[in-house]
Amino acid sequence: MRDIVVVNPDHFSTFTNGYILSNIEFDRQHIWHPYTSAIDPLPCYEVTGAKGATIELKNGKTLIDGMSSWWAAIHGYNHPVLNQAAKQQVDAFSHVMFGGLTHEPAVSLCRTLLTIAPEGLNRVFLADSGSVSVEVALKMALQYWACQGRKEKHKVLTPRNGYHGDTFAAMSVCDPINGMHSLFSGVLNKQVFAPAPQTRFDQTFSEDDILPLQELFERHHHELAALIIEPVVQGAGGMRIYHPEYLKRCRQLCDAYDVLLICDEIATGFGRTGKLFGCDHAQISPDIMCLGKALTGGYMTLAATLCTEDVAQGVCQGDPGVFMHGPTFMGNPLACAVANASLSIIGQGAWRNQVAAIETQLKAELTVCRSLSAVQDVRVLGAIGVVETRSAVDVGRIQKQCVEKGIWIRPFGKLVYIMPPYIITQEQLSTLTSGIYDILANL
Ligand SMILES: Cc1ncc(COP(=O)(O)O)c(C=O)c1O
Repeated sequence: MRDIVVVNPDHFSTFTNGYILSNIEFDRQHIWHPYTSAIDPLPCYEVTGAKGATIELKNGKTLIDGMSSWWAAIHGYNHPVLNQAAKQQVDAFSHVMFGGLTHEPAVSLCRTLLTIAPEGLNRVFLADSGSVSVEVALKMALQYWACQGRKEKHKVLTPRNGYHGDTFAAMSVCDPINGMHSLFSGVLNKQVFAPAPQTRFDQTFSEDDILPLQELFERHHHELAALIIEPVVQGAGGMRIYHPEYLKRCRQLCDAYDVLLICDEIATGFGRTGKLFGCDHAQISPDIMCLGKALTGGYMTLAATLCTEDVAQGVCQGDPGVFMHGPTFMGNPLACAVANASLSIIGQGAWRNQVAAIETQLKAELTVCRSLSAVQDVRVLGAIGVVETRSAVDVGRIQKQCVEKGIWIRPFGKLVYIMPPYIITQEQLSTLTSGIYDILANL
């Protein structure tokens, strides 16, 4: 038997010249952060706590959170109900494999999801992240057609400016230019891209908006397995808010041309846009729907792919007769228990007034940014506020200014945006919006 190797901390730069590296310096030298260079990383700020709509830094600063940790922490941090659910589940069991076993937290979660989801969705596949739930959705669509003897239906139609995750199939349906993945274009599956929807949420819908999509359906329907779209708000591909009629037409075109509709509600789900799901603005039901992010109130990673009975039956007819996917942490009980607690808070309904109040305040307080020379556009829907600048901003510089002002946002490209926890107070939100105004006024 081999001896256990005792790791020499020096190998990991815990010490440099006899000094212990601070966490921040160790992090900078060894840990990769999202979309960040290993050679010249953006600065990071060390967190020691988070509560409600605030994040506490090690340097003693308290920041008002404008990001909900990327759309997820809708009820705020350190929520007593979510904490209690996690603690209770830890004491029962944290994880068991989902192959051949099931448990109350998963069953209860899937019951609730199917009760609140758009009509017709009847089966749930629990996945471990948003990107994986998109992989699962695409795989379901391809397997569905393959099992009907229609293997030629293997492409996916999607509007430009979309974002669906960072894994390979998900990357193939992200905007090919904006989508952060252009480097991989040579190896990604070739999908069919439509122009992005142009009619804004509150404009009169223009018929011209749907014509290019209709033409693509006519030309490609024989090879299309599915259309994938983020309902009403295109998130990381441009933070664009479009007219629900476009989504309604997507449903109609999918029906007319025998193509499955996949709605990616990972960012828009659970009230963020002012309705429980983005689909609800258009009163449509997809064939397949992806959920994630706020599913656990931002406590831990969990996602779900829901589908209709028709899709489920279609996928499992013929060879191989099963759906070929099964992550190790599928249906993790701890994550399901917290998701159940989060959904119980959603079920109480306070989010409706909270999101409506945030929308009113964002409209009032962010619109003034339009007068700034650096600003191109301002758009708001539900608890989402976007300020688009004329040229790309310096993220590191803006974040430093934000931290000095006691607020937390994370812009990308030309997009300075906020989507705060629903429980944010009016005063906290004003601190965020006035901070953004001041920073953009001095760009
Ligand atoms: C619409 C949408 N789909 C998919 C994803 C990927 O989710 P995850 O980061 O959990 O893999 C995201 C993440 O931002 C998203 O906004």
